Amino acid sequence: MTVTFSEVTKVYQGKKPAVENLNLEVHTGELLVLIGPSGCGKTTTLRMINRLEEPTHGKIQIDGRDIEKFKEEELRRGIGYTVQQTGLFPHMTVKDNIEVVPRLLKWPKDKRDERVRELLAMVNMDFEEFAHRYPRQLSGGQQQRIGVLRSLAADPPIILMDEPFGALDPISREVLQIELKKLQARLQKTIIFVTHDIDEAIRLGDRIAIFQTGQLVQLGSPQEIVKNPVNEFVASFIKKNYQFETSNLSLKALDLASVDFHPYESHDDRIILSIDGSDDFYLVDSDHRFIGTISKENVKANQITADKVLQPIRVYDSVQNILSIFKDVNTLPVVDDGNKLVGVITSLSLMNAVARLVGGNES
Ligand SMILES: Nc1ncnc2c1ncn2[C@@H]1O[C@H](COP(=O)(O)OP(=O)(O)O)[C@@H](O)[C@H]1O
Ligand SMILES: [Mg+2]
Repeated sequence: MTVTFSEVTKVYQGKKPAVENLNLEVHTGELLVLIGPSGCGKTTTLRMINRLEEPTHGKIQIDGRDIEKFKEEELRRGIGYTVQQTGLFPHMTVKDNIEVVPRLLKWPKDKRDERVRELLAMVNMDFEEFAHRYPRQLSGGQQQRIGVLRSLAADPPIILMDEPFGALDPISREVLQIELKKLQARLQKTIIFVTHDIDEAIRLGDRIAIFQTGQLVQLGSPQEIVKNPVNEFVASFIKKNYQFETSNLSLKALDLASVDFHPYESHDDRIILSIDGSDDFYLVDSDHRFIGTISKENVKANQITADKVLQPIRVYDSVQNILSIFKDVNTLPVVDDGNKLVGVITSLSLMNAVARLVGGNES
């Protein structure tokens, strides 16, 4: 579903506009990141979508329909909402917390149970182990996952996320970013995600909207924004913030790489390898030097040339580097100093590795 802002202004009494003349269309299935310094109007923008705030001027539409035409509860049930401090109810179990909206929608018990199981499985949390715990019996990262799952519970087409990972340590945040990317690849929701962390914006966003004192100053893909900042403000915002946190991740690419290759075919001096957990085939020369990947279709059609040349990862690259490149791909080839293919990192192996690193902090 699309969300469209047309000339939207919000003025809180006696103040300068919190949001000023905002024109913005969020596309179906995209993850749009709103970013900017504190007080620039991100939260206000988000809260106007589910009518926790009313615009002073202008209109907001969902799939072309003015949101004022919806009943408030109807509107909010179609929109998932996650905030930084999770908003979990402390006296309710994990399961009860996740089920809040399905209960309001009067889903039968069987359907709710099944949904909670399915949601916990999506973030690798075991139902038996976690469903009956209370929020205080979870780590910060686990609580935040439950907050995210709650916003997904009734399968709303639109999700609003207001700095959902802001309070987490850097490693847990990275894990949840990966999980969210995977969920989004699968669910294709329209997600509007607020952050003030440019790394997070670049990792997650299909597009990024940069705000400065209530105004949208630049809208574009992460690449566009990093390459062509429209003004000094955007440029310095990126520069100041665009550096990966130095968390003490010590795992290297090779530690994460799956090395389970199966020779599939060889053609003259080229060898096609397949690998568990990946749909693509990998093309190497007779010395095992990496050439590129080939799709299944091309292999079947006997088209033995690389159709995608992914930038390979070096065996000594850090997890931070890998996370920063791991976008829009499911797997990344890992090569040694001689450009020989030594393994492949899948999103699953990356997620598991990061989860292992977090181990000590969990539960
Ligand atoms: N309920 C409110 N009443 C008065 N002013 C508010 C209220 N909420 C936010 N503001 C003001 O509106 C501006 C934008 O706030 P906000 O949308 O929360 O920014 P951000 O989420 O980007 O930090 C700030 O100047 C803030 O002080
Ligand atoms: Mg805010």
